[in-house]
Amino acid sequence: MRKSFKIFTFLVVIAAMTFLSRSALKQKSYYIMNILMSNGKTTHYAPDISHLLESVHSDTFSAKTILRQGNGILFVETTDRMEPPSLVLCAIESAARVYPDRPVVFFMKGLGDIMTEEDENITRERFPALSSFQNIYFFPLRLNKLFNNTPLMDWFEEVNPKKERYWTHVSSDACRFALMWKYGGIYMDSDVISIRPIPYDHFLAAEHSSSTSSSVYGLSPFHNLTWLFMEDFAQNYRGDLWGHQGPKLFTRIVVKLCGLPEFNTIHDLMCANIPYLHPYRFYPISYGSWKKYFEVWENFPTFNNSYALHLWNYMNSEGKTMVPGSNTLAEHLYQKQCPTTYDYILKKNI
Ligand SMILES: *[C@@H]1O[C@H](CO)[C@@H](O)[C@H](O)[C@H]1NC(C)=O
Ligand SMILES: *[C@@H]1O[C@H](CO)[C@@H](O)[C@H](O)[C@H]1NC(C)=O
Ligand SMILES: *[C@@H]1O[C@H](CO)[C@@H](O)[C@H](O)[C@H]1NC(C)=O
Repeated sequence: MRKSFKIFTFLVVIAAMTFLSRSALKQKSYYIMNILMSNGKTTHYAPDISHLLESVHSDTFSAKTILRQGNGILFVETTDRMEPPSLVLCAIESAARVYPDRPVVFFMKGLGDIMTEEDENITRERFPALSSFQNIYFFPLRLNKLFNNTPLMDWFEEVNPKKERYWTHVSSDACRFALMWKYGGIYMDSDVISIRPIPYDHFLAAEHSSSTSSSVYGLSPFHNLTWLFMEDFAQNYRGDLWGHQGPKLFTRIVVKLCGLPEFNTIHDLMCANIPYLHPYRFYPISYGSWKKYFEVWENFPTFNNSYALHLWNYMNSEGKTMVPGSNTLAEHLYQKQCPTTYDYILKKNI
């Protein structure tokens, strides 16, 4: 009787072990075997194991666990750059403030592996302007892993980054689709300053009347629309055409699904059963007027009809930045939406 119970318990242990992650197994299986070998009191096995399972579960620290609710705010850096410009810091801080209950994740190609909460804490310290925000996370961006099991993998294996004219843009376009597929949530370009929560989980946005935005959009994980985006990316790839995989891809799909919705009022429309947001929500200042962000205004606009502001960094070839004391719209926005970054700039003079 006692022997058969011991065998039964052993089988339960084996079953439990198969649920443990591989890295956790290394540490924990030794411990489990020790209990099994040395402890004759079989009745104590079960509680021990359930406790182990719980602790192993909370040990697992990865983008997948942090983003498991599908409600993250996702930012991406596809170069090896590890010193984000102040606008990137401001974009991330403003998102962390506007969405305090949601994880804000910055995926960076230049980051080493992060396996534990301690790794994450150490990494946070590398970004002092952001380190006080417990809902900001940094995770490494590994393209081959990210594109695995998506329509982008074949494209990625064929393409030669060194020969691509717009590799930074094109790889960033591809990453946002694959990240949306695997994690869901809201994707934002790192030149988008959040000002109030977007009240939708699923949405696309218009950049202007005839173009859909690729800079901000939201979808749940494994959404079929994301699959359509990735298929279009791989099938119609033109690395030599700027924006072909970005706004133009979004526009192609929207045109295919619902024609090009026409805004006659300030209200949002619907496309393929999801909200299609008015250009004012993110682009109250259109790309032709991007310099207005770096100008002094008599009265600052309230942006009451906007959720976030796209600062059109790609138009900014002259490298304009927020200058403390300049009294520009950009300074006003930093002071209001990312005050910690603003203070950090004042102190460090970055
Ligand atoms: C990480 O930092 C948080 C906040 O400071 C702290 O509560 C937590 O204990 C730290 N975790 C580790 C493993 O160092
Ligand atoms: C996605 O799936 C939903 C529900 O299954 C369906 O109603 C919708 O038409 C699909 N959309 C696309 C773009 O295939
Ligand atoms: C914008 O919103 C603020 C506060 O919600 C309000 O005080 C202000 O009157 C609004 N401005 C406009 C132009 O609607």
